[in-house]
Amino acid sequence: MPNSLPILEAEHPAAARCLSPLGRRAEIPLGIPQQAAQAAACERQATIGQITTGAGVPLTLPAIAEHFADLDPRAALLYAPTAGLRPLRELWRARLVGVDTSLPLVTNGMSQGLSLCADLFGCPEHPLVLADPYWDNYETIWHMRTGAPMRDFPFFDGARGFNLAGLSRRLDELTGPASLVLNFPNNPTGYTPTRAEAAAIVARVLRHPHPLVVICDDAYAGLTFDDDCMSGSLFTPLSAAADRERLLVCKVDGATKELVFFGGRVGFLTFGVGGAAGEALVDKAGAILRGTISSVNAPAQAAVLAALRDPRTPAQQEEVVGLLRRRYHALKAELDAAGLDALPFNSGCFALVRLGDHQEAQAVRLRLIREQSTGVIAVPSANALRVAFCSVEEADIPDLVRRIAAVVRS
Ligand SMILES: Cc1ncc(COP(=O)(O)O)c(C=O)c1O
Repeated sequence: MPNSLPILEAEHPAAARCLSPLGRRAEIPLGIPQQAAQAAACERQATIGQITTGAGVPLTLPAIAEHFADLDPRAALLYAPTAGLRPLRELWRARLVGVDTSLPLVTNGMSQGLSLCADLFGCPEHPLVLADPYWDNYETIWHMRTGAPMRDFPFFDGARGFNLAGLSRRLDELTGPASLVLNFPNNPTGYTPTRAEAAAIVARVLRHPHPLVVICDDAYAGLTFDDDCMSGSLFTPLSAAADRERLLVCKVDGATKELVFFGGRVGFLTFGVGGAAGEALVDKAGAILRGTISSVNAPAQAAVLAALRDPRTPAQQEEVVGLLRRRYHALKAELDAAGLDALPFNSGCFALVRLGDHQEAQAVRLRLIREQSTGVIAVPSANALRVAFCSVEEADIPDLVRRIAAVVRS
């Protein structure tokens, strides 16, 4: 196996300088999956510990196999390669146009894609910059696991939109390698930058003078409901213009929300660089994946592959987006009518309802459960409640807002 650290040092200095101690060490060994792959075309297969006919067909019990009857048994019921099913990785990459990237690595949901980024680049000396409020798992993934300090900044610039000045100040404080998470459409705010804001974020990040890894968490890709929202991911303009001396861009996305396959746990980690550097990064992430879960659930990968090949899929996805768009408009109108203080939202699955200074988010959340049989999530750092309109029927949204208002206003 080629040693990926010298490749990165030569081909992508920013990536090499941003690696954590674990990231520097991570190497794919010439282990069982690699030796088996080298022998894939051999007439006799006596490499990997899979129970097969001898012609590569798994001898899975019918009691299991019949539940996956529509899927190719070799893809669904044998081990998937460490990096994921090759045709799935290729089809997922084909969705990214206009930019040279690595092949995506299949991850166990997007959480693992993020945690691989944290393993590769996060450590006590490499802080993570991110807008607050943020998805709470970032703290577990980066700070708890790797010790990376969290350097947050307020998400909104007053009530106007994305806080570019806050991002800029946090970047200005950095003196060495660091990571930056950009999550749009955002959890928990439900905000996606406008086109003008997106251009300004890209310009600011590209000016950053020190080695930086930008992780675009595109969990809610495609769920934008306002014409002003930027289209697509910041991954494309950032990686297209990235200077390898200073910037590496990663994309984490997946079938979880885009294909409404939450339990499938099929995510993807793609590096915004092709060639030897892209392969070296996939090898490093793959080595850590091999050392934890070994490979991602094959039946779920096979189902996602079948969906990507199915011509009905785009129309079915559009139906889901349309349904969420109607819920979004209904929620916006109801929050306005109820006079509740919603922070700007234009996308994704959530809206934040801000509370008064005298109210405490956890206490209001618990009262909503007790007094109105209504569950929401408390977001203390914004003194707000996160309302997941993705999981409330359009017809029930007026009632949901009425219940929230009854507690928030009392
Ligand atoms: C912003 C964000 N990133 C990543 C994830 C993780 O997705 P997965 O369930 O695929 O691990 C979530 C899940 O809610 C999320 O909100």
